[in-house]
Amino acid sequence: MPLQRPKGTQDHLPDGSPKLSRDVQASAFRHVQEVARRALERAGAQFIGTPLFEEAELVQRGVGGSTDIVRKEMFTVYYFGDHGGYVLRPEATAGVVRAYLEGGLKQLPAPLKLWTHGPMFRAERQQKGRLRQFHQVDYEVLGSPDPLVDAEAVALMWAVAVQLGLQRGRIKLGSIGDPADREAYNGYLRALFTPHLERLSDDSKDRLTRNPMRILDSKSAQDQDLIGELGVRPMLDFLGEDARTHFGAVQASLRAWEVPFDIDPSIVRGLDYYRRTAWELHHEGVGAKSALGGGGRYDGLAAQLGGPEVPAVGWALGIERLLLALEDEGVAFPEVQGPLLFLAAMDEQNVGLAAQIGLQARKAGRVEFAYRALKPGSVFKEADRRRARLAAVIGSEEAARGVLNIKDLKTGESREVAVSELHTFLEERA
Ligand code: HAM
Repeated sequence: MPLQRPKGTQDHLPDGSPKLSRDVQASAFRHVQEVARRALERAGAQFIGTPLFEEAELVQRGVGGSTDIVRKEMFTVYYFGDHGGYVLRPEATAGVVRAYLEGGLKQLPAPLKLWTHGPMFRAERQQKGRLRQFHQVDYEVLGSPDPLVDAEAVALMWAVAVQLGLQRGRIKLGSIGDPADREAYNGYLRALFTPHLERLSDDSKDRLTRNPMRILDSKSAQDQDLIGELGVRPMLDFLGEDARTHFGAVQASLRAWEVPFDIDPSIVRGLDYYRRTAWELHHEGVGAKSALGGGGRYDGLAAQLGGPEVPAVGWALGIERLLLALEDEGVAFPEVQGPLLFLAAMDEQNVGLAAQIGLQARKAGRVEFAYRALKPGSVFKEADRRRARLAAVIGSEEAARGVLNIKDLKTGESREVAVSELHTFLEERA
């Protein structure tokens, strides 16, 4: 058997591949990226690219030492003797903030809107919608604490989903308060869970000391039973005055703009850098535990990485999960176009000439040509298989007169076109 790809990875296959599903279709990926790019650039976001691997310390400090991502899911690469190791990035935000600080982007007009897309890596157990290499579209706004910026970010995530055709997504919106609010909440949780320590999973015993809020996000049934029994109060009850006002303003804008959302009073995100606004986009087609996207405000992250305080908010959408949800809803995508022109010679001595005409004709659009002589019948068959718009044949007689025989495969109409006129002819039909 030929070698196989690693577990938890996918190939992105060309259209027409026999084993095609929406989440492995390369053209579907590009469509999502393109819709997102258009929406984000219209909102003023500029593209930023960062490395696929970063210093392990950046991810530890950025994403947070108490998260599953850092504790269990890092792909670490040890390369130079005593170097602390690199990690394949599990998400984009920490790298973007590092680049913002390192590149002096604080000097650009604020708030600075950035976007990126690409592969992320988490060593998770493989299941539907849960991959080890997956892809995100990511949007970050740096330099403003204004709740209007949070609301715009939520609205943009929603707009991308809607523009892709998603109808049954739900935004769950919450706030995890300021650090002092979270400290108070963690104190409450510690007091609540400590008498039941024995009933917690080993992971959650550890979470109780490091970051008790993480217990609420536990995947263990044992933990979830206990959480249910204890009737845990939500984080939202512990918001201080400032965070409460901020959260109210975010909601007011979203309501005014008719962006639908549900309040999730106890939202827990899988990363430690969040403050105040936090949200996720959910869809029943990929399961209750798996969000299509998530985001939030992270005012403390830049300082956590050694820089100044930079208020910021952002989100990421998982492309594979979006595609699963869109497939679940039966959303159709625009068909990928075939070539404008498929060109072939009828005899061997004109194959080179057909290629030369084809190469030049590409100024007008997508042009493909045959690499050997074809009979006229085969030319039309080949052109049809490639879903070409026009098919052209050239034989010795046409070559001598400097013309091509072109058939419009949509209308069935044929005509002779001078090679010197080909560019104009194609441009009119592109
Ligand atoms: P996240 O919630 O960890 O947030 O990931 C965002 C999205 O990436 C998820 O909602 C999901 O669609 C996708 N995703 C995550 N893990 C996997 C996986 N193993 N397989 C498939 N898809 C996955 C972040 O990454 C934050 N950096 C978002 C953000 C940006 N916050 C502020 N700025």
